[in-house]
Amino acid sequence: MDLTPQQLLQFNGSDPFKPIYVAINGRVFDVTAGNSFYGPGGSYAIFAGKDASRALAKMSKNEEDVCANLDGLSEKEMGVLNDWVKKFEAKYPIVGRVHFSMSSFRFDSPSLEIDGPSSLEALEFML
Ligand code: HEM
Repeated sequence: MDLTPQQLLQFNGSDPFKPIYVAINGRVFDVTAGNSFYGPGGSYAIFAGKDASRALAKMSKNEEDVCANLDGLSEKEMGVLNDWVKKFEAKYPIVGRVHFSMSSFRFDSPSLEIDGPSSLEALEFML
């Protein structure tokens, strides 16, 4: 299953009838079994419905770190991320990938001007 970042957001635990997903390095894990962590009020709810790679690498729960961008991370942080990948692989099923393409971007955001500052913000959000 391919999900856009926007589709992934729908699996953030706010709908109790949907599974909860967290992505790492673009791979989507079904973390519903860990809903005490990722469900509403859970310690790691901020990761739900998102690619949390950067936050996991940095051991950060800051909102701006909850993204897939690995730019500027240290070797040590990349190692931490790798350990998280191993933990998630052992614990949770992988159900798909986060997929980003210009066509889905356009379809999902018809009102955004491609060259405007708002589209830059949208791109940053997706990275
Ligand atoms: C005082 C700081 C913290 C304490 C005491 C703490 C404590 C814990 C505990 C007890 C667990 C459960 C371990 C288990 O049973 O498998 C856990 C899991 C976890 N922690 Fe923390 N934690 C802290 C900070 C953080 C931070 C800053 C992050 C940010 C990345 C983080 C991310 C996670 C994640 C992703 C899990 C795995 C949940 C799962 O199994 O799906 N923790 N933490």
